[in-house]
Amino acid sequence: MSARVMVVDDDAGFSRALERICRREGCDVVLASSGEAALDLFGANPCDIVMTDLRMPGIDGIEMLRRLRALDPHLLGIVLTGQPTVESAVDAMRSGAFDYLAKVAGVPELEVKLRRALGVVEVRRRAEALVTRSGGAERALIGEHPAMRRVRELIEQVARTPQTPVLVLGENGSGKELVAHAVHTRSERAERPLVAVNCAAIPRELLESEFFGHERGAFTGAERQRLGVFELSQEGTLFLDEIGDMPLELQAKLLRVLEQREYRRVGGSQVQRFDARVIAATNRDLEEEVNAGRFRRDLYYRIAVFPIALPPLAERTSDLPLLCEHFVMQLRRSLGRDLEGVSEEALAALARYDFPGNVRELRNLLERAAIVASGSWIRPEDLSLPGETPSGKAVAPARRAAEIDHAAIDAALEAHAGNKAQAAASLGISRFALLRRLRDRTG
Ligand SMILES: Nc1ncnc2c1ncn2[C@@H]1O[C@H](COP(=O)(O)OP(=O)(O)OP(=O)(O)O)[C@@H](O)[C@H]1O
Ligand SMILES: [Mg+2]
Repeated sequence: MSARVMVVDDDAGFSRALERICRREGCDVVLASSGEAALDLFGANPCDIVMTDLRMPGIDGIEMLRRLRALDPHLLGIVLTGQPTVESAVDAMRSGAFDYLAKVAGVPELEVKLRRALGVVEVRRRAEALVTRSGGAERALIGEHPAMRRVRELIEQVARTPQTPVLVLGENGSGKELVAHAVHTRSERAERPLVAVNCAAIPRELLESEFFGHERGAFTGAERQRLGVFELSQEGTLFLDEIGDMPLELQAKLLRVLEQREYRRVGGSQVQRFDARVIAATNRDLEEEVNAGRFRRDLYYRIAVFPIALPPLAERTSDLPLLCEHFVMQLRRSLGRDLEGVSEEALAALARYDFPGNVRELRNLLERAAIVASGSWIRPEDLSLPGETPSGKAVAPARRAAEIDHAAIDAALEAHAGNKAQAAASLGISRFALLRRLRDRTG
């Protein structure tokens, strides 16, 4: 869908010139000859962008923009004036204008400003479309990078076969839980419960009862019957988060349940059926865990039937504008403040950063930035990226795994006796990034 621009000017000749420029960029155009006319027209002709003259008989461009933006806070305003002054420029930006320009600046300059606004409109639309497709902003899996499209495709496919176990792989904060949720809600099990267990967070001695449940009196302290997650997820989905952290003895028990599709509560004699779909997730390299004897090979094969691997954020920086827009939309609502977006300079700074905490880290960074930002656009100095000074210049540039050479990796591995986690930490990259580098070298 093309963007719609409202052109407001009492000078009909200038309006027509603007109209031509807009049409060349593929926009629909609505013309208004005064601020009052624009306000009248806007209800029936909602626009994405308004290009307005500053001084007009009746209400001026700034006042008109203020009123239009009260109707639609997403509206991007470009204020044009024949007599530019610092004062009017400041006024325009205060009223929420996206840009300000002297008419004498000429057509190329105007086109640049219009294209920038159109870029913002397009990113917003794409972000909104993805949110709509996923049925809500909270759970939307944002991204158009080929690797993310692939993830969405895999989700759609596996959702259709409600028994297939799924293994979601990815670094911290890369969206594993979102994937699990998406598979569940798109499957025929959607009306049944999705039960999530964090295998790393449950104390060892409670694990068995957490999974199997127990009968009253099964052990000291078991004062009443308790249902385990196998039972709670009946006909639904069981999400085993951080499965790489599950102790070996429980792995054996889990494998038995997955194979026989039945189990008994602790202290119980009755056999219960297990019929949930299992989705497991981990940020560990399970193959490495298997080779190191920390994860059972047979369980690994059982759960790895349908792997879905999430790319680290640093490997899909092309998605940053879309993700930023998505989070800015949410922050605008939750913080209740006038927030337009992330400036181009701030986006460039984000694209240089490695994001060890992936999308979660981006969201947290933006939330903080939105709180400290003085204007309606988030600027580099609002971001406080690790490794950048407040002026936005990198002191020790944030590390990108791709920039670290093999010799440095070898040296780090040697210094840490082959321990990859420690070597990665000393290089300032994630363990996953290190493993990728090693794999690229051999493969
Ligand atoms: N592609 C994405 N689009 C939008 N939001 C995302 C995306 N990926 C992650 N998020 C958001 O980032 C945060 C972390 O995501 P999630 O909890 O799914 O990550 P995770 O891989 O399970 O992390 P962990 O390894 O820490 O468990 C959540 O708030 C989630 O909504
Ligand atoms: Mg998680």
